Amino acid sequence: MATSSIGRDTPRVDGPLKVSGKAQYASDFHFPGMLYAMPVAATIANGRVTAIDAALAIRMPGVRAVFHRANIGKIFRSTFGPGFQGVTDERRPPFEDDVVRYYGQYVALAVADTFEAARAAADAVRVTYAREEPNVDTELAADDEADVVTTSFGPRDRRQSQRGDADAAFAAAPVKLDQVYVTPAETHNPIELHATTAVWEGSTLTLYEGSQAVFNHRGVIAQMFGLPVENVRVVTRFLGSGFGGKLWPWTHSSLAAAAARQLGRPVQLVVSRKMMFQTVGHRARTQQRVRLGATAEGKLLSLQHDYVYHRSMLDAHHEDCGEATSFQYSVPNLRVTFGRAKRHVGSACDMRGPGAVPGLYATEAAMNELAAQLRIDPLRLRVMNEPKIDEGLGIPFSSRHQLECFELGAQKFGWSRRTPGVGSMTRDGLTLGWGMAGAAWIAARFPAEASVQLHDDGSARVACGTQDIGTGMYTILAQLASEKTGVPLGKVEVALGDTSLPAGPISGGSMATGSVVPAVFAAAAEAIGALLGVATASPGSPFEGRRPEDLAFADGRVFVKADGAAGGVPFADVLRRANLRMVRGHGKSEATFDDPKPRFSTHSFGCHFVEVTWQPEIARLRVSRVVSVMDAGRIINPLAGRNQIEGAVVMGIGMALLEHTSYDRATGAPINSNLADYVVAVNADVPPIEVHFLDFPDKEINALGARGIGEIGLAGIAAAITDAVHHATGVRVRELPVKIEQLLG
Ligand code: MOS
Repeated sequence: MATSSIGRDTPRVDGPLKVSGKAQYASDFHFPGMLYAMPVAATIANGRVTAIDAALAIRMPGVRAVFHRANIGKIFRSTFGPGFQGVTDERRPPFEDDVVRYYGQYVALAVADTFEAARAAADAVRVTYAREEPNVDTELAADDEADVVTTSFGPRDRRQSQRGDADAAFAAAPVKLDQVYVTPAETHNPIELHATTAVWEGSTLTLYEGSQAVFNHRGVIAQMFGLPVENVRVVTRFLGSGFGGKLWPWTHSSLAAAAARQLGRPVQLVVSRKMMFQTVGHRARTQQRVRLGATAEGKLLSLQHDYVYHRSMLDAHHEDCGEATSFQYSVPNLRVTFGRAKRHVGSACDMRGPGAVPGLYATEAAMNELAAQLRIDPLRLRVMNEPKIDEGLGIPFSSRHQLECFELGAQKFGWSRRTPGVGSMTRDGLTLGWGMAGAAWIAARFPAEASVQLHDDGSARVACGTQDIGTGMYTILAQLASEKTGVPLGKVEVALGDTSLPAGPISGGSMATGSVVPAVFAAAAEAIGALLGVATASPGSPFEGRRPEDLAFADGRVFVKADGAAGGVPFADVLRRANLRMVRGHGKSEATFDDPKPRFSTHSFGCHFVEVTWQPEIARLRVSRVVSVMDAGRIINPLAGRNQIEGAVVMGIGMALLEHTSYDRATGAPINSNLADYVVAVNADVPPIEVHFLDFPDKEINALGARGIGEIGLAGIAAAITDAVHHATGVRVRELPVKIEQLLG
């Protein structure tokens, strides 16, 4: 189609709203009489609240209330439900008991006329504790637990995947590798803080929320306030990103709603950056033992991946480090198991590429080490062990082009010029290190509904209750509607981020784009069907008296099939002649996620090639060049797509070299709880990043063949960087992030 933007670099349709400050984030909503809430955070990580003295705080100017367990009112528990209707990582309602299980847990809430007054009042609340020793030990040994454990997503078998006899094959293997890889707790640091603005009207509640999943949020909050779901509306027009931290509701959301209920006024609660390190999730610390057995030539004989991650005292987020292990390589004997270790920390949660990102760091780092041990090129080791099918499930891949990724990446990077010796490559007086790794991430669809309207002025509207986490969903929805209706992008209105819209997918798992494609296409088809009906039935229509099946629609025009598109009439004319403002269609598509009997194994694949520079004299390590190649099906918007991979690579530099949340052993507090001490990669840390997409549409996912790209860019990158570090320095770092002191001989 002449006007199609699918597959073309398309600037974000919501860009002007963002750069002009008109985009409304959760804390940009203001209402008459709105009050501001500030939580009081526990200063112990284990123990009980014995007394709360709010006498001083309540007398401060502008203070309306100080809430705690005795006066917050009833907040119920919520239950896990089918689909994404009841997911939360911290199930305990705020203030449910007087037990403190992690540092920063909310124990009271000050509400005042201004943000400043609320903060001052929160500071003035005196809390007395019976303190016990916290356990934030970083050495993780699996707690004694049953084989099948309950997680936030339902029961999981701790023996996650198994084939052949991994132990015997490892014991007999001529070449063995047995190492432990550690990834630290990491904290999501989107620029937009978590925030909730809660507004009650009688028994209906509206939450302006920073949520990656408004429908799930509605389901959880409705349960917590004992309301039917139709009495709760959740609105998330814009997100200043979330990285998974905003997928599921946190306790500040129900606290804001409870305070608004008690006071009969709208209440806004913005979580502070410090609280972001305490109460709204983090990536769990992991400790992963990887054992590889291989022939002397490098054919894998056995792979064992046994991992342990930390979790909070009450909750059970599952950090699925084994997600990609069972299918990424061809190996006849394999075992993947996991264990968990309780700590006095806030609940962990999903963070960009949950499970697979720390998991692939470990397994890809192990592959690189095995290659070094075998004295073969790490790329060749991977090619040699490329699987023909998903050996974990015993079914074919829908579309796997891992080898083409390697080939293109190696060519673009110049990998063949690598000399394997440590420190053997130099440029401009700098020691170079080159490393690479593979990547994988699940591809599937969540259920989705959408509506499409065609208007009498030639414009269109597409609506879907999904969210734009910053990745470009506004633009994707406009592109999809434009593709099918022929309405130019600039005349397509997009509505999303609202539970009053057709139910859309979560902005998670890199699945939102793939999920909305069939729903929007079906909605457009229904709208066009309605239009053709109007065209044939309306008196005075040029198509009056014809049968709808004799008509066709293309590029925004209705025409008689037999006459061809040239004689077409713009749909706006058809509507105007019929005195109709619009026709509307609704579309719905089913999930493929968690299909118990899948025919195909559906994943995206990719690889990273990385160069670091090392100056031993001053111990300066920089990532100097990255080439990433992704096999993610058809890319609907390559401009936004490259942004996704670039952003993930930036985060990967942080993961490999900078980011870690440190818990103080004495107090249990995350001690680097600010952006000065928790260091993320910034512009000065980021080299040129070259992103290439292969173009193999995956029709198992949707008609366009578009898989997701939000997370895969972070998979494998840390292993590529640590191998480059080894190549430059000779030091194998197996605990992230790489610290300069580890590199000093
Ligand atoms: Mo992503 S961690 O599924 O938001």
